[in-house]
Amino acid sequence: MNLNFFQTYMPLYLQGAGYTIALSISSIIIGAILGTGLALMRMSPNQLLSKLAYGYIQIIRGTPLLVQLFIIYYGLYVINIELPDFLSGVIAISINSAAYIAEIIRSGIQAVDKGQMEAARSIGMSKRLAMQKIIYPQAVKNILPALGNEVATLIKETSIVSVLGLRDLMFASNTVRGATFMPFFPLVIAAVLYFIMTTVVAKLVDMLERRMKQSD
Ligand code: ARG
Repeated sequence: MNLNFFQTYMPLYLQGAGYTIALSISSIIIGAILGTGLALMRMSPNQLLSKLAYGYIQIIRGTPLLVQLFIIYYGLYVINIELPDFLSGVIAISINSAAYIAEIIRSGIQAVDKGQMEAARSIGMSKRLAMQKIIYPQAVKNILPALGNEVATLIKETSIVSVLGLRDLMFASNTVRGATFMPFFPLVIAAVLYFIMTTVVAKLVDMLERRMKQSD
């Protein structure tokens, strides 16, 4: 636990942290796209679409991410699809996050008071225009903070890919544990780095929330 330790192993940690950040950003982008689609399906008047989205969300939220990750990783392998490890990780995590994001978006939209739509309709707005001009702008204020929490959760949850040997931050800390025979300290470094990442996200969300309050 001296200067030498940091000199030797910090590059490995930073590489791992970079991998974790890349995995998180890719997954949150794809998850948000899928999640938006799912939320729209879920709220659609078409019962089939709505039920499909509901089933997806329930299954994903009702099973562990770890199991989903293994299913994707080995499932693709069994059907002879060989993807780079990173991509398997992104697929599993974004498929998972999409279910949570769909619920964030749906509840954010449905939390807007019913009277808002009624008022907009009563002054002659079409339903579509009312959604665009009245409902969505208010829904964003519910959705963005919750989405920020999801980003922080997702960053932490990516650590699970280390069990498959993907070279993320958690994997780096395990490598260092093996190399140094230190069972504990390398984990603390990983925890600190995760904490820095989630704190940055939380601060950004805070700033965003404050700015949205100003516009009220
Ligand atoms: N650890 C939980 C699980 O295995 C959480 C999954 C991810 N949660 C999330 N909000 N993306 O199911």
